[in-house]
Amino acid sequence: MPLSVKGTLLLNEDPRSVKKAAKIIKNGGLVAFPTETVYGLGAAANDAAAVARIYKAKGRPADNPLIIHLSDFDQLKMVARDIPDKAFHLANCFWPGPLSLVLFRAEKIPALVSAGLASIAVRMPDHRIALELIRLSGFPIAAPSANRSGRPSPTSYRHVIEDLNGRIDAVIKSNTCTVGVESTVLDLTRDKPVILRPGGVSKENLELALGETVFISGLSKKDATPRSPGMKYRHYSPDARLILVTGSQSRRYNVIKALANRYLKLGLKVGYLNFKLESSLNSRISPEQMASTLYSSMRRMDQQGIDIILAEEISPEGLGLAVMNRLKKAATRILHAG
Ligand code: TXA
Ligand code: MG
Repeated sequence: MPLSVKGTLLLNEDPRSVKKAAKIIKNGGLVAFPTETVYGLGAAANDAAAVARIYKAKGRPADNPLIIHLSDFDQLKMVARDIPDKAFHLANCFWPGPLSLVLFRAEKIPALVSAGLASIAVRMPDHRIALELIRLSGFPIAAPSANRSGRPSPTSYRHVIEDLNGRIDAVIKSNTCTVGVESTVLDLTRDKPVILRPGGVSKENLELALGETVFISGLSKKDATPRSPGMKYRHYSPDARLILVTGSQSRRYNVIKALANRYLKLGLKVGYLNFKLESSLNSRISPEQMASTLYSSMRRMDQQGIDIILAEEISPEGLGLAVMNRLKKAATRILHAG
């Protein structure tokens, strides 16, 4: 795919280029950088004007807060206050890594970073370039995923260019977002820890580390208003229509085959997620593999002009919970095969 880059600087991963990226951030600019989950679109977390430009570049609704990225454990106290022991414990267990903790916001962090909320989400990414960029820019970096609002998150610099070319100052070139889905967002501002968004760290591992039950927001009827504002928007969507097929394995298989035949006869282009027509039922890919290729597969199918994506339910264990969450949000239709 040829890249035409107007106005957005393409930087390599070498130390000099990362230093240049840090300088752009220090001067109030926006830089897209790789993390172990997806690409982030970064600005200095203490620069309200730069943070405002992030919302504008992405077309992001003003009520959807960003995540603050740290390179050093000591920086936690710069961005949060009244930090509970549980937060330090979880940070020790999972950082650097794909876990964002929701804590009370420190005064010096502009309200815009968290869309006016009294809390902030914070994590330390497990990625050499991201850590070096934050360290060299001298302050934690506020960053949402580096996609246009509503599009699948980018896992390669090419995806960032597709969405944000000319709207941001620079992109660090990399293809190293190995987890492939975003971080788990865990709210620690209430009595009980609650997952606001499932992601790269599983509920099972959080429960093992905490020795208590971890709840998932939105599962009970009482929790009707989303506590993670970002979760109310249609998200992660390819241009193609995505049909998610749930139910028992053999019935799913038959329904997907029947749907594929129907659409192919109509002359439509059909793509598959986590499903191979020619393979046996037992040769499906793992939730980790599914997560790491989910968004790039959606984007590739859009590039190929696929009309209908048929996606198959996977078990919601481990990373499967995050994959199912994203598939449900991307789906134009969920079909229960029985
Ligand atoms: O892996 C990731 O989390 C990536 C990389 C770049 O770190 N970032 C990412 O950011 O996915 P974004 O902006 O696409 O998603 C942030 C999520 C949203 O659902 C937002 O609502 C939630 O975190 N969030 C952020 N701050 C929050 C807060 N104070 N309270 C509740 N939810 C919050
Ligand atoms: Mg996002």
